[in-house]
Amino acid sequence: MQVALNVPAEESSLTFGDLELKNDLSAVRNYSLPLLIKNFMRISSSSERISVVIIGNTNQAYKTKQLVKDIIKGIKRGASPIPIHGGCGGVYSFRNSRGENIAIVKPTDEEPYASNNPKGFVGQSVVSVKRSVRVGETGYREVAAYLLDYNHFANVPLTALLNISFSFFSVNGEMTSNRTAEMKQVSKLASFQQFIPHGFDASDYGTKIFTVASVHRIGILDIRILNMDRHAGNFLFQKLDGDGGFGLVDLIPIDHGFCLPENLEHPKFEWVYWPQASVPFSEDELEYIKNLDPIKDSKMLRKELPMIREACLRVMVLCTNFLKEAAVFGLSLADIGEMMSRKLKSREEEPSELQLICIEARKMIAEKDVFFQEVDAEGNHLAGSSSGNMRPNEQLAGGTCFVKVMDMNEEGWELFLEKFQELLYPAFTNRKSSGNA
Ligand SMILES: Nc1ncnc2c1ncn2[C@@H]1O[C@H](COP(=O)(O)OP(=O)(O)OP(=O)(O)O)[C@@H](O)[C@H]1O
Ligand SMILES: [Mg+2]
Repeated sequence: MQVALNVPAEESSLTFGDLELKNDLSAVRNYSLPLLIKNFMRISSSSERISVVIIGNTNQAYKTKQLVKDIIKGIKRGASPIPIHGGCGGVYSFRNSRGENIAIVKPTDEEPYASNNPKGFVGQSVVSVKRSVRVGETGYREVAAYLLDYNHFANVPLTALLNISFSFFSVNGEMTSNRTAEMKQVSKLASFQQFIPHGFDASDYGTKIFTVASVHRIGILDIRILNMDRHAGNFLFQKLDGDGGFGLVDLIPIDHGFCLPENLEHPKFEWVYWPQASVPFSEDELEYIKNLDPIKDSKMLRKELPMIREACLRVMVLCTNFLKEAAVFGLSLADIGEMMSRKLKSREEEPSELQLICIEARKMIAEKDVFFQEVDAEGNHLAGSSSGNMRPNEQLAGGTCFVKVMDMNEEGWELFLEKFQELLYPAFTNRKSSGNA
């Protein structure tokens, strides 16, 4: 493929999911295509048996390159990476030559349920621990969250996608570094994030000490990307006062692997019942929301991360439009988050208010079969089909899936968005008058 497209081999990688394909294409399953992605730069040290390729044109490539150089220097000075024991996936903290933690690396084949998960969470399923996210695809999402965080509004730490060949990582659930006899380099696709020095995460203290602005800014990002994993452990902070006490602290958001699902799922928004979320948006925040343009965001992601699926972009467009309209209407972050979330008391799985609006909008266009297309288990359109009887995408949903987005063709999707827009005003009015707002 590199020859056919006239792309020099050193400037590109042929990847399939979490694998970099060299000369062996046997890993490519028949239902999906491998992707030729542009390498940005390669940094390696043969003596330390490490080679890192920065993939794609991240807008902070210089800073990423510096961090990569620093971790290689660290390894040369004997500062090996430190595996992080909490959580369900393989996570490594890489250090500089002074032994300070500077970067967090999460190989995509060590995610929960992926083949080389070092913590015993190895599975056969295509679906990850969160619905509508496939195993091996969380790394792209980490980078997408960073790229979407324009002007560092929510303070997502610098994140990039790397192809990293190194002898330290887990293979078949075992740490290769422990097997000293065979220190074999393994090549992995991984997300790479700047390490944020912190003492705590949001589960360690009461919520009172968090600034309203940082809760709002993280909440705005979470809504746009439909984050399904914003639990308390995924906010970091550092104490501010010299005397060991706490003033108000800003939160730093991490761990965005479970955002941008392929269907409109229930999010996990830890902040939804925090008092800060009920404080009205500030002028700055309203201005930021007003300037969001999900169509531009989709274009940017298609260019920077071509492996992100169209279904994920549709979910982002839907959620961003919802946020924009709700903010103009005067709803608070708490209102918006609640409308997107599963009902607190319900035992059975019930649709959220947002999902109900979408179900209604789909009904409005359902009379016309032509707006729907059959999709295969991968969510890809099947050519030539115009049936309204959609095959359930059970593989990805892994349970009740209330709102699919890829079974509408382009025309159907546009019409659906129009109907969705029309239904928002009554839904917002209803919410205000029900006394929740
Ligand atoms: N950018 C970062 N800066 C500092 N520490 C980090 C950073 N990213 C992750 N960590 C640390 O590594 C831990 C695990 O990282 P992360 O939450 O991304 O992985 P995870 O396996 O998906 O966790 P979980 O499934 O528990 O949410 C975090 O709880 C935090 O302590
Ligand atoms: Mg986490």
